[in-house]
Amino acid sequence: MKLQDKCKIINFADLGDERGKLVVVEGGQTIPFDIKRVFYIYGSDATVVRGEHANRESEFVLINVAGKSKVRITDGKEELIVELNKPMMGVYIPKMIWKDMYDFSADSVLLVLASTHYDGKEYIRSYDQYLQMTRGTEENE
Ligand code: TYD
Repeated sequence: MKLQDKCKIINFADLGDERGKLVVVEGGQTIPFDIKRVFYIYGSDATVVRGEHANRESEFVLINVAGKSKVRITDGKEELIVELNKPMMGVYIPKMIWKDMYDFSADSVLLVLASTHYDGKEYIRSYDQYLQMTRGTEENE
């Protein structure tokens, strides 16, 4: 499967009216997993690169609820760069996909929804190790 089919852009419905915007994200519905954990990253800037890991078990959806950032996504074969620049869009990142977040605007608030509770042991933080683990797998042949 192509990377852009694995890492789908999610466009959330706009439930706003004259009073302002409203965006709803629901686990198991617009988000393709049950949400176990939510965290958000802010106070980063254009000099910072975050992420730089893949996860054995966790799936994520990233949403810039304010400001903007970019996420570089790779499966070791293809690369995709997604600019997250509106609160009504997110990107789904499945298990075993490498991701780097960067180019944060000063006002960036990057919301991350995760399918698991935190477990540092399921993180792969060496890109070389990641490539070794994905090489030869069915998806990468
Ligand atoms: P890190 O994974 O480096 O952040 P990012 O991928 O967003 O750049 O996490 C930074 C620190 O926070 C690290 O010590 C692990 C800790 N942490 C938790 O305890 N729970 C969590 O859910 C997350 C995402 C991180």
